[in-house]
Amino acid sequence: MVRKVKIAVLVSGSGSNLQAIIDNIESGHLSAQIEIVISNTTEAYALRRAEKHGIPSIVIVSHDFSSREEFDQRLIAILNSHGIDLVVLAGFMRVLSPAVLNAFPLKVMNIHPALLPSFPGIHAQGQASDYAVKFSGCTVHFVDEGVDTGPIIIQAVVPVMPEDTEESLGARILAEEHKIYSQAIQWYAEGRLTVNGRRVSVANAAVARVSLCNPPLESPRN
Ligand code: GAR
Repeated sequence: MVRKVKIAVLVSGSGSNLQAIIDNIESGHLSAQIEIVISNTTEAYALRRAEKHGIPSIVIVSHDFSSREEFDQRLIAILNSHGIDLVVLAGFMRVLSPAVLNAFPLKVMNIHPALLPSFPGIHAQGQASDYAVKFSGCTVHFVDEGVDTGPIIIQAVVPVMPEDTEESLGARILAEEHKIYSQAIQWYAEGRLTVNGRRVSVANAAVARVSLCNPPLESPRN
């Protein structure tokens, strides 16, 4: 019996990743309990999703605090008061200070809509489509003090089509985000993740042995 990991999901926007996590918990595919949803804006549709599922939520807005440190101290207090095991950043558009990371060492995960270390920061889907890479994807990683630089847990790859826009590529990536985030959290709940420097190993994980070309090769080549 896998213990239910107590998570806080931090959001700023639509919350489709939050929804996928909720759905996986409700269908019994994810051993987690969302103790609290935390948004840094009252506008986040994610708050409505939480409400619909009876999940408590709280909004902490940066302009109510005189400094980043004060904001983050409030955040730490909320996380501690809910006995959080794992902090899940799901479209949370704010960089956390070292104080939060020190309070939750290797207990903060993030999802990023690109194959890191390519295209960190904002508008990753637009960066990838403007650069005209042939593949992009998404990455779940532990958060460290950099921006999108922490140890990588899992990545999913999607093809980039010639006609893609930021939106069409973003939608293809998002569908994969919804799968890999719950998988990473489930591995965490099962105690199967070990971090050694940059390297994250997943105990008893299958090994991916596929190689992909885009555009595909037109005949077998040595
Ligand atoms: C997702 O694509 C997520 O990867 C991205 O924001 C979106 C949130 O969507 N996060 C970042 O870009 C963080 N650098 P959602 O609110 O529908 O889950």
